[in-house]
Amino acid sequence: MKKNTRAAFIRHMLENEHTIEPTPEFSYKALIRSRQDYDEMYRRSIEDPEAFWAQMAAEHLDWFKLWDAVEEYDFTDERPYARYFRGGRLNASYNCLDRHLNGARRNKAALIWQGEPSEEVEVYTYQRLHREVCKAANMLKRLGVRRGDRVVLYLPMIPQLAIGMLACARIGAIHCVVFSGLSAEALKDRIDDSGATVVVTSNYGYRAGKILDLKGICDQALALCPQVKKCIVVRRIDKRTDMTVGRDLWWEDRMAAETSVCEPESMEATDPLFILYTSGSTAKPKGIVHGNGGYLLYAAVTSKYVFDLKESDVFWCTADVGWITGHSYLVYGALANGATSLMFEGVPTYPQPDRYWEVVEKFGVNVLYTAPTAIRSMMKEGEQWVNGHDIGSLRMLGSVGEPITSKAWLWYYSAIGQGRCPVADTWWQTESGGVMITTIPGAVDMKPGSAALPFFGVLPKVIGANGAEAATNEAGNLVVTRPWPGMALGVYRNDQAFKDVYFPTPGYYLTGDGAYRDEDGYFWITGRIDDVMNVSGHRIGTAEVESALVACLEVAEAAVVGYPHPVKGEGIYAYVTVREGAVIDDDLRARLVKSVRTTIGPIATPDVVHFARALPKTRSGKIMRRILRKIAARQTEDLCDVSTLSEPAVVDELIRDNERLIA
Ligand code: PRX
Repeated sequence: MKKNTRAAFIRHMLENEHTIEPTPEFSYKALIRSRQDYDEMYRRSIEDPEAFWAQMAAEHLDWFKLWDAVEEYDFTDERPYARYFRGGRLNASYNCLDRHLNGARRNKAALIWQGEPSEEVEVYTYQRLHREVCKAANMLKRLGVRRGDRVVLYLPMIPQLAIGMLACARIGAIHCVVFSGLSAEALKDRIDDSGATVVVTSNYGYRAGKILDLKGICDQALALCPQVKKCIVVRRIDKRTDMTVGRDLWWEDRMAAETSVCEPESMEATDPLFILYTSGSTAKPKGIVHGNGGYLLYAAVTSKYVFDLKESDVFWCTADVGWITGHSYLVYGALANGATSLMFEGVPTYPQPDRYWEVVEKFGVNVLYTAPTAIRSMMKEGEQWVNGHDIGSLRMLGSVGEPITSKAWLWYYSAIGQGRCPVADTWWQTESGGVMITTIPGAVDMKPGSAALPFFGVLPKVIGANGAEAATNEAGNLVVTRPWPGMALGVYRNDQAFKDVYFPTPGYYLTGDGAYRDEDGYFWITGRIDDVMNVSGHRIGTAEVESALVACLEVAEAAVVGYPHPVKGEGIYAYVTVREGAVIDDDLRARLVKSVRTTIGPIATPDVVHFARALPKTRSGKIMRRILRKIAARQTEDLCDVSTLSEPAVVDELIRDNERLIA
């Protein structure tokens, strides 16, 4: 589509039209070809979930032993839970690798890795990946790792991350991937909470041309984690690295000594497969636990239907494996389907803003799954970066991580998809294991900006202010009223948090997101309703940032809110009051920012630090975050009643300062 035609199309759509039908060419070849087929399959999944999931499990996974029960759950229990395939036995790495080795997939690319330096490419066929995983599994066993033990993987986007995960899965160890952009302190907390005694890292990493000293960060964390006995280090860059004798080992050396034969452990479907930490409304991230059976099945089935996966596709999920999207779609879902998954180490804008399109062209990517923040940043750079590349191999596009505006959606659809590729917005969360609400491509009409309809087996509802189901187009809390196989097993060693956060009201799972449902039954997600921000698709708790700020002695109080940001989606706005006598200057501001970066990581860097004389509080002393959010967002015309505040004048002061601060 030419630029002018596209601009006219977007304008027309925004002003007049609300839905876009999939093209007949796409629907004709799709796995689910029509709305009627989707409706029928959805109906079956809800009317008889046990039969539906039993059939899916038999069709999509290989089991060592079949299950005794398909689905067991109680959302009203003192300890709410859902379990799938109890008694069933399988192995996730066997399902992702071994079973593809007996036929044509043996020499198919399982993982194509593109390093940040353009010339660094590795292709792992299923056979090669299987061998590497077996060797890594043997290496872990030799170091004493046993079934049920936790292994922390603090690695950048390199193949050893996927190999490490699958190696853990193979021997029944529980992997706990920590995003390599997180700080030493965040890493330490996760090592402690998971109780891991083995950590895998790399000596360095690349990030937009800079070299990250990952081993250095890991050393800082390990200095405070005496329980960690072994640290395996991947040599990513040939550069001097300090190794601690007795504790640190080179990945390459250890792997060379191992054989590529390793029998997969037979795991109970409800045994944990991994722990992944995520932010909530407390200062401490929660370890979300996913199991071997239900999770793997849900990742596999959603990968297949949400992306209409074809045997010959190159599937590129751009998410970092340090987050759930990378776990479910780059690794488990893609490989369980025997697909070709592309792993990219770089960033969209380095060395130039056309990097994604260069990669799409180079490997003939067919399915691209990325985040609105990347789409917005590419929109900002302009379409000339796209036009220089042949991206005609793309046939399907996905979006995940935060609400996508109709405008960004339409840009993605028209500039990248050329009006040919369906766009599936996919709403889900770390806790859900896989996609929950989406537009099944080829089958369901798209509404730009709406996540659309539930995936099979998912029964979401919007609960209004009075606790009853909200009316059409009325906003409320998004909840899910019955379980689905990808649902988390729990919060690691914290049943109480699982209940308090997700089941404060017995009977349904509370997502933490706001939504409304339109007259066609389409869901529109409006964003978090709890104290969680979504910054460039990263989930960050306001309490985590506040706790890092008040760690500075000068700070009396801190209140952090998200505010609309043109590229990041949400920016981080920190209101800070200081103690009597403290000097407010650039040095203090820099130290506050540094404290957040060292406690959490650069992703949580506050965009605005607003020093205030006081914060708006109720007479009982509760900080009025609603008001702080409005001031940060500059929506002060409808601040409502401030007369209940203990000191109403504070609000005007904050508004004035905000105008000066972001002039
Ligand atoms: O607020 C929702 C937002 O991201 C949250 C989940 O974050 P996380 O667990 O890190 O997982 C992100 C990747 C699945 C949700 O509670 N979110 C995710 N996808 C969407 C979204 N918000 C709107 N639309 C989406 N498609």
